[in-house]
Amino acid sequence: MVWPHGFDDLRGAARRRLPRFMFDYVDGGSFAETALARNVAAVRAVTLRQRVLNDVSASDLSTTLFGETLAMPLMLAPVGMGGMLRKRGEIQAIRGAHANGVPMVLSTVTLCSVDEIAAATQIPFWFQLYVAKDRGFVMDLLARIKALGCRTLFMTVDLPVPGPRWRDQRSGLSGPPGLTGQWRRWREIVTHPRWALDVGLLGRPHTLGNLVPIMNGRLKLADFLRWSGQNFDPAVTWRDLEFIRNHWDGKLVLKGVTDPDDARRVADIGADGLVVSNHGGRQLDGSIGTAEALPAVAQAVGERLTVLADGGVRNGLDILRMLALGARGVMIGRAWAFALAAGGEEGVSRMLAQMALELRAGLALTGCARAQDAGPHLLGQLPSWW
Ligand code: FNR
Repeated sequence: MVWPHGFDDLRGAARRRLPRFMFDYVDGGSFAETALARNVAAVRAVTLRQRVLNDVSASDLSTTLFGETLAMPLMLAPVGMGGMLRKRGEIQAIRGAHANGVPMVLSTVTLCSVDEIAAATQIPFWFQLYVAKDRGFVMDLLARIKALGCRTLFMTVDLPVPGPRWRDQRSGLSGPPGLTGQWRRWREIVTHPRWALDVGLLGRPHTLGNLVPIMNGRLKLADFLRWSGQNFDPAVTWRDLEFIRNHWDGKLVLKGVTDPDDARRVADIGADGLVVSNHGGRQLDGSIGTAEALPAVAQAVGERLTVLADGGVRNGLDILRMLALGARGVMIGRAWAFALAAGGEEGVSRMLAQMALELRAGLALTGCARAQDAGPHLLGQLPSWW
């Protein structure tokens, strides 16, 4: 077999392997999916300066973020229900990440619980929190992850309400309960037996590991959308951020900020970092691409906060483009999700190795040896939104 190279190959391999409702869940965006397309287009529009005859032999991709050394300035972004892409999917993904010196930020809504993940890995995970209405659950979860050694918490703030995802309704993943959706799901499951057997769909019922304690152990995957409808909290405000700041003594990173005024407030509250993100085009459609939002945010708070970015990053050169726009580190969502679906732990590991290779080559061709030195001086032309 020729191993998939690059995002399009991995996406194609994932499409062949997954039932349609899972592929569309990962691939899709919200509303008319224009923000999703704009994220990708904005990253690709960034040009880099070709520089020659610099000694780039001492190539070094490593960087330090939140007190930890990373082999390259890349992280796996939180992807809810990633464990449905492969058997114990989050464990396979985090192992692939750690094998490449890259951290993974676990979603609140993983299939594997944080305890299972901690038991299966040597290096502490990073964690993403949705501030659910049930604040007792939130406090318990923070205590649990702290006890397991997690020191870096991402609080996602761009999901006060779920953005309408029409593809999920068409595929039968969500939508009103009823036979049509169920029938569509079952048809896809029986026509994808390799996937169904791998993820153990015919065995014990799937649960979202971290939510089990509040659902008396009964939460099934099918109940997730109902739970999220009831528990995602549209009343979360800056006061809740202060509450979390006061109850979490590790590093705190706000995920889902695109506006410089919001970014300044994040800095004022004493967070350690933020992620310029629009949830991969899955929330506010019509928002600008994250690569377009990044320079203004980095200029506003780059001295006070560690600014990260995600959205539309598909290869190692895209990482460099985000660094050139002012990010200190970059996150990927769909790229690792498709790599996991296509090839499990090895798929994630190979994909990351390919990205490292591309980043190294890209850096060298811009005359820069160290990823830590990347910045606006690498831009070919200042983008129109600079
Ligand atoms: C996400 N994202 C996300 N973010 C988050 O904070 N918590 C979550 O549970 C999820 N779940 C999730 C599921 C799926 C299937 C996707 C594709 C994305 C958003 C994710 O962390 C990240 O911001 C985007 O995926 C980045 O965009 P790209 O790299 O997918 O273009």
